[in-house]
Amino acid sequence: MPRCWTCSRGIVFANPVCEQKNMLRIRVLHGPNLNLLGTREQSIYGTLSLDALDSAIMELAEELDVTVDLRQSNSEGELVTWIQEARTGYDGIIINPAAYTHTSVAIRDAIAAVGLPTVEVHLSNIHQREEFRQRSYIAGVAIGQISGLGPTGYLLALRGLHDHLTASRHQKKTSAPATSRRAAKGTK
Ligand code: DQA
Repeated sequence: MPRCWTCSRGIVFANPVCEQKNMLRIRVLHGPNLNLLGTREQSIYGTLSLDALDSAIMELAEELDVTVDLRQSNSEGELVTWIQEARTGYDGIIINPAAYTHTSVAIRDAIAAVGLPTVEVHLSNIHQREEFRQRSYIAGVAIGQISGLGPTGYLLALRGLHDHLTASRHQKKTSAPATSRRAAKGTK
């Protein structure tokens, strides 16, 4: 198993190298029924299993030097708890809230509360499907939404969030000295 993955359906692989290198940490959350990927409505969701999808995400994470923590739950409360917990130790979230996309004010509020850059992903194109699927409670608090590109959507989300977080880190670093200089001069 490559370094720094925390593939944590209950198991956490910690590696101090992650801390030393100050690697980006991203929590990836899969919502209800996504545990059935590969067998569930294959004409809509494809034939790839959740394990195979997670492996593809972990492979890209290694290439990008990002730590990913992958979790799936059928329970709204558990997803809310995992989002809240991400406040400490994580830089961003990728979430496919599945059916909760269209119903969950609680998940939306949790994402807004933690304030971590979040990308919403859907395997299918929710905007081409039934009317009730075309509304997302999550989109308004996400930095972006990827819908309809199948498993590739998760990989694009990881690249996109990686670039977003790297750019914000760079911006913080380059703006810090200017702030300190102004503070030293006593100007605003
Ligand atoms: C889904 C779309 C949702 O409408 C649906 O309830 C899902 C999966 C997707 O990935 O396409 O379970 O989020």
